[in-house]
Parts: sequence; C-alpha cells; structure tokens
Amino acid sequence: MLLRTPMMRGGGRIVGGSDASPGEFPHQITLLRGGPDGSLMCGGSLVSEKWVVTAGHCCDGQSASRLGVAVGSHNLYQDDPDQENIQVKTVVLHEDYDSFNIENDICLLELESAATFGANVKAIALPKQNEEYDEGTMCTVTGWGTTSEGGSLASVLQKVTVPVVSDKHCRDSYGASSVTDSMICAGLDQGGKDSCQGDSGGPFMCGNQLSGVVSWGYGCAEAGYPGVYTQTSYFVDWVNNNM
Ligand code: ARG
Repeated sequence: MLLRTPMMRGGGRIVGGSDASPGEFPHQITLLRGGPDGSLMCGGSLVSEKWVVTAGHCCDGQSASRLGVAVGSHNLYQDDPDQENIQVKTVVLHEDYDSFNIENDICLLELESAATFGANVKAIALPKQNEEYDEGTMCTVTGWGTTSEGGSLASVLQKVTVPVVSDKHCRDSYGASSVTDSMICAGLDQGGKDSCQGDSGGPFMCGNQLSGVVSWGYGCAEAGYPGVYTQTSYFVDWVNNNM
C-alpha cells in the first residue's frame, strides 16, 4: 500500500500542482455565478475576443443574465492589473449534452463586450478536428479549483502536468460505457495529480492548444481513477459553427 505524502494529497495546491506565473495562461477565465461580480463556479478558455469554451455542465440550466466571466485573472480574491469582468450575453450548450453520462460536455459563452487582448489576455488555439493523443502525452490543466476533494479553492491559479491515459485503460477504471471516444483521460497510476471541483470547464492543454475541457472524475487524484476531459478535437466543427 502506497503511503501518500501530504504533497500527493494536495498539500495546498490544484491537486499536486503549483502556482502558475501571472500571464502564463492568458486564455484562462473564471466563470462567475450571479454576474460580473459573482463568485467562481467554473473555469473556461477564451477562443476569441468574444467567445469562451467551458464545460456543458457549467452551463446546464444557467441563464446568460446571471453569468459573468473574468479575463486576465491570476489571484481569485484580488483584482489583477489586466482583469476585466464581463457580462455573458449568450449561452450555447451543446445540443447533445447528456447530464447523466456527462457526454458532449461542452458549451460556448458569448461575451457582452469583447475582451481587451494583451500580454495577459489572449485566445488559445483549437486542435485539428479529430486529432488524437497517444497515451503518455504530457498535458497541463489549470484552475482555481479545490486543492483536494472537499478542500478549499486555490487563491492563485494552479497548474499541474499529467500524462494522457488511453480510452482503453480509462474504460478499465470507469467501465466501457462511461468513457466515450470524445472524452480524453489523464492522470498518474498512483494518483496525486489531478484537476478537482471548481476546475471544471477549464483548459487541458497538450502543447499550445485547447486539447480538453475539465469534465469529471471519481474523487480527485485517486489512484487508478484518472481525470476525464471533453476531447475538444471532436468538437472543433461544433465550436466553429456555433460562434
Ligand atoms: N466536475 C468538476 C467540476 O465541476 C470537475 C471534476 C474533475 N475531476 C477530476 N477528478 N479531474 O469542477
């Protein structure tokens, strides 16, 4: 039985991650419940000045009038120099989003006004439609989500790098019907590094592209249970046709 060190249990980070540098992930946004002055409900990514990609389960049942987005944020509880809080204008939840399977867990948010792009505020590129990633590919996930299952949110944006787990191996963990081809899994066999509650909707990056969107998992950073992400490459056409 593996002895877990405090660091592997989170020890104050995403789970097992470290502080991002200011401006390191200029596409990262916070999705705010209540409006531009609301509180963190999910992460997301700018894909243009006016459009954000987030998770479907972050949009499900939400009306645009009660949602805001903060761009250029680094500290969750402080206003950062390039931070702008913007009202959401339109919510475009994937028409086949399935809240039972958490399938097609993707959503577009149109902003009321364009984000001001600069060093700390930029769009991230989408992958090629249907691009695949080999098992073991190292990818980075970011967010202000809890630093352990049931823990508290991070005050500084966190990043953690985890290897891709093949759909086959991911199905061994979660069952064949739970993991669809349009999901991508990542994590260490021994656990210890993962996204967690509050990171949902945020970016999962294999290189300089939005390879995935934080979606679900059994607990956080549990051995044998990788994090599961919406595989953005299956939705490139959907994104381009809906923004
Ligand atoms: N559903 C969670 C959220 O709403 C994200 C869960 C990610 N879990 C994981 N083990 N990677 O924030």
